[in-house]
Amino acid sequence: MKLYIREAVSGDNDMLQSFQKAASYGEGGSVSSVNHPDYSWRTKVYERGKVFMACDEADNHPMGSASCAVKSANINDLSTLVGYSWNYYTSPDHRRKGVAIALIAKVEEFYRQQGASLAYVYIMDSNAPSIALFEKSGYSRHKALLARYKLIYRKSDSNDKNNVRTLVPNDLDEVSRLINATWEGHDLFTPYSATSFAASIERVPGFSYDDIYVLEKDGRIAACVGCWDRGKAVRTTVKSMGTKMRIASMVLDATRLFTPMPKVLKPGEVMTQYRLMPVGYKHLDDLKALLKTINNRALSKGIYAICGASENDAPIAHCLQSMFRNDVNLLLYAKSLDGSTRLSDNPVYVDVVDI
Ligand SMILES: CC(C)(COP(=O)(O)OP(=O)(O)OC[C@H]1O[C@@H](n2cnc3c(N)ncnc32)[C@H](O)[C@@H]1OP(=O)(O)O)[C@@H](O)C(=O)NCCC(=O)NCCS
Repeated sequence: MKLYIREAVSGDNDMLQSFQKAASYGEGGSVSSVNHPDYSWRTKVYERGKVFMACDEADNHPMGSASCAVKSANINDLSTLVGYSWNYYTSPDHRRKGVAIALIAKVEEFYRQQGASLAYVYIMDSNAPSIALFEKSGYSRHKALLARYKLIYRKSDSNDKNNVRTLVPNDLDEVSRLINATWEGHDLFTPYSATSFAASIERVPGFSYDDIYVLEKDGRIAACVGCWDRGKAVRTTVKSMGTKMRIASMVLDATRLFTPMPKVLKPGEVMTQYRLMPVGYKHLDDLKALLKTINNRALSKGIYAICGASENDAPIAHCLQSMFRNDVNLLLYAKSLDGSTRLSDNPVYVDVVDI
C-alpha cells in the first residue's frame, strides 16, 4: 500500500470526525470525544497549526490524520520553538500499515521547516499502541502528568462575593504578569503579554472575559482562573460502563435520595466540563477561593466536572482533590529535533487546552 499526506481542507470535516468517533478511551468504561462542530478548532488556537491527512495513493481515500502546531515555549527558561502534536487517528481498517508512523514523519518535517527544535506529545498511560508508536518514532518518556476531573454535585461555601469579579480589558496587563509569575521556571510555558493574552482568549471557541474570574485584594489582583466550557468545541459522550462503574452508579443513585451525590454518567450521556485556564495566583488560598466560585457556577449550569492538568503533586491537583473525582494519568513524551534541545529538570506547565 502506498500513501501520500496532504493538508486537511474544510470538506474533510466529516471524515475527520468519523476517524475520531471510531476511537474510544478510558478505564472502567469508555468515552468518545468528537471535535464538534469544527474538527480543526484546536489548530486555530495556535498561530501555526495544521491538520494532516494520510490518503491511499490508489484511490485517494483518507486513512488517518494528525494535528500539530508550532509555538514558542520556555525550556530551561529560554524561549524555544517547539512542536506539539495530538489527535493521531488511523481508521480501524488501515491500522498497523504504517499510516501513523508516516504522519509523525510529516509532522516533524513541518516542525523542522518552521525551525522548531523539540517535538512533544501527551499520551494517556493506558494507551499502549500510542506509547509503542511514539517510542518507535524516537520519542522518550519525560514525565508523568495528571488531568484531574472533580465531579460537581454540591455548593461550595464561597464567601468571596465582594472581591471576586470577571475579567475586564483593563486587567489584561496585570493578569498576564500574574500568570507569568505563577509559571516562571516551568518548561513548556509561553509567557503572555497583555496583547497575546487577549488573543489567546479570542482564539478558544466559546471562551470570553466573562469566563475568567479574578480575585482582588487591597486593589490588586491576587488570583485569576478561567473556566472554559469544553463542550463548545468537543462533544464527549459515554460509550460504555464497566462493572465497577455500574455498581458505583447504583450506590450513588440510592444515596442521592438522602444527600447530594454526584452522578455516574450512563452510556449515551454527554460529559460536560469546565477546563481551568488560565491560572495565576500568589497564595493558594486565593486560588481555592476562586475554585469555589467556579464550582458554584458549574453547579448552577449543570456542568458535570471541572478539570485541571498539571504535574501529579502540583497545587492545582491538590485543589481539585475530592472523594468524587476522575484522574487521568498522562505521559509527556518528547523528541529532540536538533540533537541538542531537551526538556530540562524544571517542572512542566500543562496548558489544559492541549490535553
Ligand atoms: C495509535 C494509532 C494512531 C496507531 O496507528 P497505526 O496507523 O495503526 O500505526 P502504525 O501502523 O504506523 O504503527 C507503527 C508502530 O506503532 C506501534 N503500534 C501501533 N499500533 C499498535 C498496537 N495496537 N499495539 C502495539 N503497538 C502498536 C507498533 O510499534 C507499530 O509498528 P509495527 O506495526 O511495525 O509493530 C491507532 O491505533 C489509532 O488510531 N488508535 C486510536 C486513537 C489513538 O489512540 N490515537 C493516539 C492518541 S491521540
